[in-house]
Amino acid sequence: MTAISDTTASGAAERKGLLRFLTCGSVDDGKSTLIGRLLYDTQLVLEDQLAALERDSRKHGTTGEDLDLALLVDGLQAEREQGITIDVAYRFFSTPRRAFIVADTPGHEQYTRNMATGASNSQAAVILIDARKGVLTQTRRHSYICALLGIKHVVLAVNKIDLVEFSGERFHHIVADYLGFAAPLNFSSIVSIPLSARFGDNVIRRSEHTSWYDGPTLIESLESLDVSEGLAEKPLRFPVQWVNRPNLDFRGFAGTVASGVVRPGDRVAVSESGRESTVQRIVTADGDLAEARAGDAVTLTLADEVDVARGDVLAHSDARPEVVDQFAAEVLWMIEEPMLPGRSYLMRIGTRYVPARVTSLKHKTDVNTLEHIAAKTLGLNEIGFCNLSTATPVALDAYADNRATGAFVLIDRFTNATAGAGMISFGLRRATNIHRQALLVDKAARVHLNGHRPAILWFTGLSGSGKSTIANIVARELHARGVHTYLLDGDNVRHGLNRDLGFTDADRVENIRRVGEVAKLFVDAGLIVLCSFISPFRAERRMVRELVEAGEFIEVFVDTPIEECKRRDPKGLYARALEGKIKNFTGIDSPYEAPESAEIVLDPSPLGPEEEARRVLEALSARKIIS
Ligand code: ADX
Repeated sequence: MTAISDTTASGAAERKGLLRFLTCGSVDDGKSTLIGRLLYDTQLVLEDQLAALERDSRKHGTTGEDLDLALLVDGLQAEREQGITIDVAYRFFSTPRRAFIVADTPGHEQYTRNMATGASNSQAAVILIDARKGVLTQTRRHSYICALLGIKHVVLAVNKIDLVEFSGERFHHIVADYLGFAAPLNFSSIVSIPLSARFGDNVIRRSEHTSWYDGPTLIESLESLDVSEGLAEKPLRFPVQWVNRPNLDFRGFAGTVASGVVRPGDRVAVSESGRESTVQRIVTADGDLAEARAGDAVTLTLADEVDVARGDVLAHSDARPEVVDQFAAEVLWMIEEPMLPGRSYLMRIGTRYVPARVTSLKHKTDVNTLEHIAAKTLGLNEIGFCNLSTATPVALDAYADNRATGAFVLIDRFTNATAGAGMISFGLRRATNIHRQALLVDKAARVHLNGHRPAILWFTGLSGSGKSTIANIVARELHARGVHTYLLDGDNVRHGLNRDLGFTDADRVENIRRVGEVAKLFVDAGLIVLCSFISPFRAERRMVRELVEAGEFIEVFVDTPIEECKRRDPKGLYARALEGKIKNFTGIDSPYEAPESAEIVLDPSPLGPEEEARRVLEALSARKIIS
C-alpha cells in the first residue's frame, strides 16, 4: 500500500475539483469489476484518510470532509433535476485528492443512446479493452461517441493484463493500434494503462508485475487530469426558463446560467430580438447575489422593460450567440423508427422548443472506420452529419465552443420520445439576400373574386381505395358549381415534379412535403385543391395541415379495407407486389398509418364512388366551404 500513503501524504492542500467520467467497454471487458475495484479500494484509502483526519481533528480541531460530501450529493441532485431517465448508473467515490462521479453505462450496441447520455455529462472517459481481444468495434464506437460529445480526455484501460502474462509487448501493440485509430478524433490527452481490475494491478496499487511500465496508475491519472475547460469561462448564456411576474412591480427572468458569469450592471442582449438592457439584480431565495456562474439557478431583473419570453437566451451584448434558422450538426439517432429528412420533429435547445426538420443528410459515419457513407436515412444508433432548419431562428453556439448551448435533442411529435441527439457544428447563413416580396394582389383579394373559400381536400388511403376516382368526381361537381379547383394526383405528380422519387419511406416523406408546398400555393391562389395521395404517414399529413390556416385542411380518409383493394387491384399492382415483384408496396411490405381524426371518413358505399363524392360535397357544405 505504498502508493496510498504517497497520495495521502500529498494531503488536502492539492485537492482538485470534482471529476465526472464515464466508463465504457464491451460486455465482458470487466467494467463492473473495475468500478467495484475503484469503489472498494478508494474506500480503504478514504478510511485511511479519515483515520488521519480524526487524528488531525483531535490535534487541530478542523471540520474535515463535511464540505466535500455535500458537494458530491449536490452533483447527483443536479442529475436528478435534469430528469434523466435513461439507464445510466451514477456512483461516487473519493480519494484524498479528488472526488469522482462515474457514469456506468451498458455495453451493448443498442445502448449507444445511454452511453451518449453518460458521455454528455462527463469530462473524461475510461475506455476498457480486454488485453486478450485488443481494440474492438465497440472500442471504436465508444471512442467516436465520446469525441462527438466533447470529451477531451481518454484513459485507455488495457484490462486483464494478467491473462496475457503481463506482456508489455501485447500492451504496446494494443496502444499503437488504438492511437492509430483515435488520431483523427483529436482528444487532448490519451493515457494508456496496463491493469488488472480483478487483482488490482495498477488500479490504485502499482503492480509489481509490470516493471516495464512507468506511467501512472489508473487512480493517479484520474486524480491528476486537468479538465478545467470550465463552462464558467465561456461567454454568458442564460436560457430563460420562465418569466416571473408575481405583481406589477416585479418582473424577473428565471433560469440556470448555462455558461459564463453574470453580474449586476452587465450589459445584456436578448438573443433572438437583439434588444438590450442592463442586469439590475440577481435574485435568489437566499437574497441577492453579486454574481451568478454557470450552473447557478437564479432570477435576473433588467433595468428596462424589454420583451423577454421563455426560451429566449440572454447573453452579454458583446459576445452573443448566433441566431439562425439553419445549421449543420452531427445527429445521433436513438429510436427504432428511422430519421427521415423532410419530416418535422420538435427540437429542444436550451429552454426552447421549436419545430425543426433535417433538410439534408450529408453522410452517415461508419463508427468502426470513421468513413463517411452516403445515406438517405439514419437508423437506430447511427450517426449522421445533417443540415437542419427550424421554424423560427434560434440562438445557438457550435458544440465545440459551448457544450451547453451547442447541444439539442429532436423529439418525435407523436410519441414524444427523444428521437435524436445533436451537436451543432456551425450555423448556415442561407439566402440572406432574399426577402419576401410584398404583393399587391393577396389571398383575400383572390378569395373575394372567386366567391368561395380556399381549402385543401386531402384524400388519403391505400392504393386502389378509390381516392382518385372520388376526388375526380368531387372536382367535376365543384367545377359545375363555379368553384375554382385543381387536382393533384399521386400518379400524375410522380410523372413531373416528383419523377425523381421512389417509394422508400424517405422518398414518400419528400413526395408529400413537395406536394404540401404546392397545395399551399394553390390555397394562396384561392382554389380548392384536391390532393389524392396514399400519404401513408401521419407526420407528413399533419405537416401539410400545419402549412395552412386552421379549417383550411380537410382530411378525407378513404377507408377501404385492404382485402377490398386487393380484390379491385385496378392496376394489377397488388398481384405483382404479392409476387415480390414490387418492393415497398403500401399495405404489403410498407406501412399505412390510418388517420385518427380525419374530418371525413368514407367507408366503401354499395352505391359506388358517385355516392361517396356526394358525401364529401355534403360535408363541404356543412363546413361552409361551399354554399
Ligand atoms: S405516397 O405513398 O408517396 O403518397 P403516391 O400516392 O404518390 O404514394 O403514389 C401512389 C401510387 O403509385 C399508387 O397508387 C400506385 O399506382 C403507384 N405505386 C407504384 N409503386 C408503389 C408502391 N411501392 N407503393 C405504393 N404505390 C405504388
